[in-house]
Amino acid sequence: MRKPFICANWKMNHLVNDASFYGEDLVNRIKMENVDLKKVDVAIFPPYMFMAALKVLFFLTGINVGAQNMHYAESGAYTGEVSPAMLKDMGIECVIVGHSERRQYFNETNESCAKKVKAAIAHGIRPILCVGEYLEERESGRYNDVVKEMLLGSLADIDADEMIKTVIAYEPVWAIGTGKTATTEQANEMAAFIRSVVAEKYGNEVAQQVIIQYGGSVKPDNIAELMAMSDIDGALVGGASLKASDFIKIINFDPAVVGKEPAVVE
Ligand code: 13P
Repeated sequence: MRKPFICANWKMNHLVNDASFYGEDLVNRIKMENVDLKKVDVAIFPPYMFMAALKVLFFLTGINVGAQNMHYAESGAYTGEVSPAMLKDMGIECVIVGHSERRQYFNETNESCAKKVKAAIAHGIRPILCVGEYLEERESGRYNDVVKEMLLGSLADIDADEMIKTVIAYEPVWAIGTGKTATTEQANEMAAFIRSVVAEKYGNEVAQQVIIQYGGSVKPDNIAELMAMSDIDGALVGGASLKASDFIKIINFDPAVVGKEPAVVE
């Protein structure tokens, strides 16, 4: 049984006060809606500077805090970078690796992703490896080959035990921030393909345990349909994660599964 994993990628958004307000608001809404965090993993990926405040606000709530990126080295002369040891020291539970915006604007490669995935696991941090094709690659029909190459390149030195700990996020670049969601069938077809690539390399038993997320214009009104698909186990949400009032609807995508009836307020 794969546990749903719902993530909020804030990207480069919010200021200090917004982050604190969001943290308090989300904690309250999770309580009010009786969301059972034993049934769904939830992580917020703020900019680095808000992590400490959110760790305090989320203390003992079960909500995880993740990083949007990290360096793979333990420490050293890498101005502007943050190491896995620093994240671990701060109690950060997960990290996004190889988001398409980092690949596109900051020269992230499959090789650097492979080092980051390995380093994250070595520090007990759960990596979320992002893969996804551009519009022209989708339209030319090459999308499976493109995603397979990204996957195998970014998982180069990962063994079976490490694979089970790695989350894969399928984020087609053409669906990010565009309001254009892949159809649930397209998203699930790719998630199933990703699982088959993992199965080819690591065997079916490993592949069946790997959490695969979809990301790209996920909203409160399309999450339930996406989560009902056979191979989609979670979501990596950008725009619709920026307000706790929207994100709670995504976390609680099926109240029969993760939450009960909202508490009655006297
Ligand atoms: P949007 O949900 O804004 O399309 O962003 C998706 C994304 O890139 C999450 O990492």
